Amino acid sequence: MYFSHTTHLSFPFFLLSITFGTFAQSPCPDPEKIFPCICNNFQMNFDYAFHTKDFSQYDTLSEANSTTDYYQYEALNDANNTIDYVKVVCSVGNSSAEIFSVFNNATWPSKQLKEFVLFGGNMAEEFPGGYFGGVSFERIAIINYEVDTIHLSALISSQDTLEELKIMFSHLKEFPWDTLPLLTKLTSLKLYGNELKDIRIRSDSLRELDISSNQIAALKSGWSAPNLTSLRMDMNPISEIPHGFLDGLGNLQEFHCFECHLGPTLFKGSLGFHSEIVTYIGLSWNDISNIEEGAITGVTPETFVGLDGNKIADLTEATFRPILEVLQRGFGSLSVMGWFYDLVICDPFSYFLFPQ
Ligand SMILES: *[C@@H]1O[C@H](CO)[C@@H](O)[C@H](O)[C@H]1NC(C)=O
Ligand SMILES: *[C@@H]1O[C@H](CO)[C@@H](O)[C@H](O)[C@H]1NC(C)=O
Ligand SMILES: *[C@@H]1O[C@H](CO)[C@@H](O)[C@H](O)[C@H]1NC(C)=O
Ligand SMILES: *[C@@H]1O[C@H](CO)[C@@H](O)[C@H](O)[C@H]1NC(C)=O
Ligand SMILES: *[C@@H]1O[C@H](CO)[C@@H](O)[C@H](O)[C@H]1NC(C)=O
Repeated sequence: MYFSHTTHLSFPFFLLSITFGTFAQSPCPDPEKIFPCICNNFQMNFDYAFHTKDFSQYDTLSEANSTTDYYQYEALNDANNTIDYVKVVCSVGNSSAEIFSVFNNATWPSKQLKEFVLFGGNMAEEFPGGYFGGVSFERIAIINYEVDTIHLSALISSQDTLEELKIMFSHLKEFPWDTLPLLTKLTSLKLYGNELKDIRIRSDSLRELDISSNQIAALKSGWSAPNLTSLRMDMNPISEIPHGFLDGLGNLQEFHCFECHLGPTLFKGSLGFHSEIVTYIGLSWNDISNIEEGAITGVTPETFVGLDGNKIADLTEATFRPILEVLQRGFGSLSVMGWFYDLVICDPFSYFLFPQ
């Protein structure tokens, strides 16, 4: 029995030494090889959490003025990270080539990293293919970086890992929509504040999509995103939502299209929801004066329908009664403030509206 005892003892020691060896090596290259980027493992560098400013008041990245600000801000929010939370933050001057060589020329001891953040920079036509070399990320954020288009293969090194992609305030004119089905882990896509004119969504994994503040004028139906729960398209010049547009979005709970130029008429079949729960339908400030019967269907008893700031002068019974009859079964409500009406309605029958 003596021999089997030593065998059991040596086994954990063997494992320990391997584990130790892995952690002893930094996952980041030499700092000078990756200028203007900083690579860090937050668990090993908790000093960053010592902050000099009160960042709690900022909730968007764009409000942080510098890489350092952002870095410290994030360190606070990341305080519970696990040991391998490796983040690369780059603040660029002029060219995309600098960053290209950071990933393609430096040696990265670990090629599976958590997060990449790119700030600022001058005009570039394209975010080139092969940008990240063989390095992959779970989150990528590109903020205030002026770039017209992202090459189809730029994101491919993160094909099996990317969960969140943010490209904001970056004058982006084109996005490689065809790569979406390949990004099988992607749950959050935020393209707020760009110059996109066109959008096509096909993704089984996507849960939230924000394309607010772009230049999308024409929507095409045929989207397929069965897991999408939140869609934000506010502040785009979308004049019409095509018939059956929501058909491929069977789980959509929130739909935001504030200031979307949808008026004067919201046509029958534009907004047919198919989910078990719909919490929010935001259509304020659209110059809508007429909502056809059956334009909004599939509301559930907890839905909030926001139609404030439109030009609705007549709450036609054929349009509104079917909606209100559902809402009054739960906590749902309909808000039509700021034009002809000044009403938030929960129960149509307690008002003068549609007496029983
Ligand atoms: C960024 O700069 C502006 C103007 O200089 C200042 O008001 C703001 O507080 C700064 N933000 C941070 C996070 O320091
Ligand atoms: C870190 O974890 C603790 C305990 O679970 C929790 O109270 C705290 O809010 C977490 N901090 C952050 C920044 O998530
Ligand atoms: C950007 O490029 C221009 C001209 O190529 C140069 O004058 C300027 O100094 C550069 N800016 C930075 C921050 O590198
Ligand atoms: C990458 O490294 C090679 C060899 O050191 C060098 O010749 C080349 O200019 C570098 N490329 C960039 C983009 O820095
Ligand atoms: C869709 O969502 C469900 C429930 O959250 C999840 O189990 C499933 O993996 C998701 N599908 C994809 C393709 O991500």
